[in-house]
Amino acid sequence: MNIHILSDIQQTAADVLIVPVFEFEAATSDGLKAFDEAVSGALSDVLGTDEMHGTAGDLVFLHSAGTLAAKRLLLVGVGEESAFSTRRMRQRVGQAARVAARKGVTSLAVAMRGNLPADAAASAIVEGVMLGLFDPAIYRKKDENAKQVESLTICVNAEAVEAAERGASQGRILAEGTNFSRTLSVEPSNKITPTTLAENAQRMCEANGLSISVLGPEEMRAKGMGALLGVGQGSDEPPRLIVMHYKPENPTSDKRLAFVGKGITFDTGGICIKGRENMWEMKYDMSGGAAVVGAMQAISQLKPGVEVFGVVAAAENMPSGKSYKPGDVLHSYDGQTIEVIDTDAEGRLVLSDAIAYARQDLQATHIVDLATLTGAVMIALGTERAGLMGTDRDLIAAVQAAGDIAGERYWELPLDPDYREQIKSDIADIKNLGGRFAGSITAGYFLREFAHDTPFVHLDIAGTAWLEDEAAEMAKGASGFGVRTIAHVALNMAAQA
Ligand code: BES
Ligand code: MN
Ligand code: ZN
Repeated sequence: MNIHILSDIQQTAADVLIVPVFEFEAATSDGLKAFDEAVSGALSDVLGTDEMHGTAGDLVFLHSAGTLAAKRLLLVGVGEESAFSTRRMRQRVGQAARVAARKGVTSLAVAMRGNLPADAAASAIVEGVMLGLFDPAIYRKKDENAKQVESLTICVNAEAVEAAERGASQGRILAEGTNFSRTLSVEPSNKITPTTLAENAQRMCEANGLSISVLGPEEMRAKGMGALLGVGQGSDEPPRLIVMHYKPENPTSDKRLAFVGKGITFDTGGICIKGRENMWEMKYDMSGGAAVVGAMQAISQLKPGVEVFGVVAAAENMPSGKSYKPGDVLHSYDGQTIEVIDTDAEGRLVLSDAIAYARQDLQATHIVDLATLTGAVMIALGTERAGLMGTDRDLIAAVQAAGDIAGERYWELPLDPDYREQIKSDIADIKNLGGRFAGSITAGYFLREFAHDTPFVHLDIAGTAWLEDEAAEMAKGASGFGVRTIAHVALNMAAQA
C-alpha cells in the first residue's frame, strides 16, 4: 500500500475520505466547519439525525464532496471526544476502511482528528486500515476484476506532518508484522507444520537480516529437551525449536529480551483427545509462536536499541502408538521431572523447555511468553482481554503499558505461591495439570517454575488470538494479537534504558 501524509485537505484526491466525527459534535465545530463548507452544508444536514450522532460505529457516506478533491466523504462516529484514544481511532478507521473497500474503492484518505499525538495517531490509522483490509481467505480463488485499496493518504495539520510520517511508517511495519502472523495462524495444519513454520521464520529472518537457528529432534535429544520431545513424539511431523535473534547496531540497553511462543501447529489433545466440535480451530494453537515471528519481523525493521530473541517451541500434538501418555514422566531441559496427567495440557510442556532455553542458553534477562494456553482464560476474560501473569512488577507494568499503546488489553491474574499446591506431583517434581479451578493460573504457575528468578510474564491469548465472528474492524479468524504489544515492549525498553 502506498501511504502519503498531506496537510492540504482540499487537495487530497481519494475515492473516499474518512472523517471521524465525535459524539454529538456540531457541523460548526472547529474541526468540521471546513468540511461542512466544502460540501455546502451537507454535514449539517446529516449530523444529529439518527444516521449520525457520532456514536462509535455510526457510518454515513456523503456523495457530494463539493470543492474537495476527494470523491466521497465517509463520516465515521468515534464516540465521545473526551474518551477518544488511539485504540478508538484504529478501530473506527478499520471499520470505515472495510466498508469502503467493499464498495470497490482503490484509494482512501483519512482526516486525522482529535488531540492525540500525531505520530501515535498516524500509526493507529495505518494499523486500522491495514489490519482492517486483511483478507484471511488465502486459499479462495481470486476474482480477477476485484479492486483493491492501493493508496492511503493521511491528512494532518502542517505542523504535524513530520510526526505523522514517522508514525505512519511505524504503523505500516507493525501492521505488516501483525498480518504476517495472522497468515501463519490461519494457515491450516497440513500447510504449517513445525518444519514449515521454521522455514517461514527462516525466510523472514533472511529477508530482514536476523540470525536464526533451528533445533530438530536430534539436537533436542542431545540437549535433553524431554518435554518438547515428549509432546512431539506422537506425530509424524518432527518438532522444532526456532530461535531468532535481533542484535541492535547501536545498543541503548544491556538487557536481553526473550519472547517465547507456543507453536503447537495442531492440537488434537493427543491421547487425551479433544471432541470433534471446533477441533479444526486448533490450527491456531501456534498463534503465540506466530506472534513472536511477526513481532521479530517488525522489530528487525523498527530497530530498537535492545537485543531481542524470539523463541518458538513448535510441535504437533497427535495421538498414535508413539504418543506420550497420561502418567508418563518427562525429563525437561531445565532438569525438573514432569508428570503428565493430561496430554492435552501440552502447551506448558513445550514452553517449559523453550523458557529454560531462553534462560540458560540465551541468558535472557527478561522473558515474555505468548500462548493459546487455556480454554479457562476464555471463561474468565472472554475475547476482550488476554490473561497476564508475571513474577516481576516492572516487567508486568512494561507489558501493560505496551499493550495500551498497541490497543491490546490484558488483565492480570495472580501467581500466589498457594497455587503451587495444585501442581504438586506424587512421583515427579511437578505435574502438568492442576485441579478443576483456576486453570489459567495453574498453567501460568507451571511456566513460572521454569523461569526461576528471571523476570517473567506469561500472556494467555487463547481468547484473543482468534475471532469466531467478524468484528466491525477486522475479519474473522486470526487476529495477530500480541505482535504489537511485544514490539512496543522492545521499543520502550530500548528507549527507557
Ligand atoms: N490449546 C488448548 C487451549 C485452547 C482451548 C486454546 C481453546 C484455544 C481455544 C490447550 O492446549 C488445551 O488443550 N488446554 C486444555 C487444558 C486442560 C487439559 C488442562 C483446556 O483448556 O481445556
Ligand atoms: Mn491442548
Ligand atoms: Zn494447545
